Amino acid sequence: MDHAQSGRIATAATRRNRYSMTRAPAIDRVRSRLIEAVQPEYGRIPMFIYSDPDVYRLEMSTVFREAWLFVAHVSELPEVGSFVVRDMGEESVIVARGDDRTVRVFLNSCRHRGMRLACADFGSTNVWRCPYHGFSYGSRGEFLGTLVGAPFERVAYPGGLDRDALHLIEAKADIYQGLVFATWGKHSPQLVSYLGNVAWYLDLVVGRAEMEVVGVPQKWVVPTGWKLPCENFAADAYHTATAHSFLARLGLVETVGFGRDGYHVDPGGGHGLGVGVHSDQGGSYFPVELAEEYANRLSPDQLRLLKRVKNLHGNVFPNLSFLIPSFIDVDGRRVSGMMLRVWQPIAPDKVQVWSWHLVEKNAPGWWKTLGRKMYTQTFGASGMFDQDDTENWEAQTHNATASLSRADEVFLHYEMGLGMQPLPDSPGPGDVYDGKFNEAAGRTFYRTWLDYVVGRELV
Ligand code: FES
Ligand code: FE
Repeated sequence: MDHAQSGRIATAATRRNRYSMTRAPAIDRVRSRLIEAVQPEYGRIPMFIYSDPDVYRLEMSTVFREAWLFVAHVSELPEVGSFVVRDMGEESVIVARGDDRTVRVFLNSCRHRGMRLACADFGSTNVWRCPYHGFSYGSRGEFLGTLVGAPFERVAYPGGLDRDALHLIEAKADIYQGLVFATWGKHSPQLVSYLGNVAWYLDLVVGRAEMEVVGVPQKWVVPTGWKLPCENFAADAYHTATAHSFLARLGLVETVGFGRDGYHVDPGGGHGLGVGVHSDQGGSYFPVELAEEYANRLSPDQLRLLKRVKNLHGNVFPNLSFLIPSFIDVDGRRVSGMMLRVWQPIAPDKVQVWSWHLVEKNAPGWWKTLGRKMYTQTFGASGMFDQDDTENWEAQTHNATASLSRADEVFLHYEMGLGMQPLPDSPGPGDVYDGKFNEAAGRTFYRTWLDYVVGRELV
């Protein structure tokens, strides 16, 4: 190493030290505050965590860096060269299918000056050409993510370009039941271990048949901290009797207690779900035309539960929600329109909602048509349920930013079901509780969140 080189490195190291000396204590202060104030096991969650900018910064560099994040459904990538553009935390990523049919995930950032490579939301291409100076990257097979050319390359770079060093930055990707997940975490567990017990329930939602996304995902912005909708799907069946009581008033369900009967499930890992069930051993309204496919893809225990499902809602930590809404009458038939949701944080007090409608690929026409209608009426940008929920989350977030609420002592109450024992003989894995009114999975959501943001070694 020559002097000039070592001088440059020493200067960089000095700068790094200076940075960490001024920056680290601030981060430690936030972490210490969180360790003191967030008490999931006692059902106490301070309100400031829903909108605090320092907490948000920590979440971006921990939860959204290390957890597995949902980025696409495989049906959105039907052919070699197909891609969609998504977000992983603050990073824009390209999710692409290569020649070998493998789905890979790349940072959507040119290695030259960091311009976005893919500016369309989705498409199919042979090559990604940077709109700034024209560096081009392969989108297929062995060239997937590789720099394949630059304008006037021999003139501009007579010594050549180091193609290995300029390969697009790649996230670790994996697929479960058609759901494509990715993570930046170098030490993240395998996806199937990360999902753990929630995988068994995801099978009912997205694995019971071959699924396909209908159209493109709807996107809209909601002024809410991202955790509120996530834990709502994981562990809040209680709100349905009040916030969505219109269902009973309109006569679409029999009573406002439609969200109570069933099971609350704490599968561990920060995931959570509720399953509304009919009281008898059957009673669900899935189309008989698909009975054989369900039976071929599910275990007998899973099939038994599916046949009783009235509704099913949940969240894969951190921000993928799933839902089989309560079946209702649409044009004279009982149907449900399934969806996936990503609550994409874009600011401490703001999310971009991504909403996908999914349906069984081999379903009869009536199920597809009426299911889509049901989904549009109830969920999605104009959905009746979404409007109820959004108003609550927006007001909660507004309150969380007010100065009085930012004191550590102002906490929210998550004690429902505290001390209750799970069922000894349950229909599926994890801690399964009788009745959906329970916040056990909410407490686990915040415990998991806390472990990520403060660093597990500090807990
Ligand atoms: Fe992409 Fe320059 S920023 S080619
Ligand atoms: Fe709701």
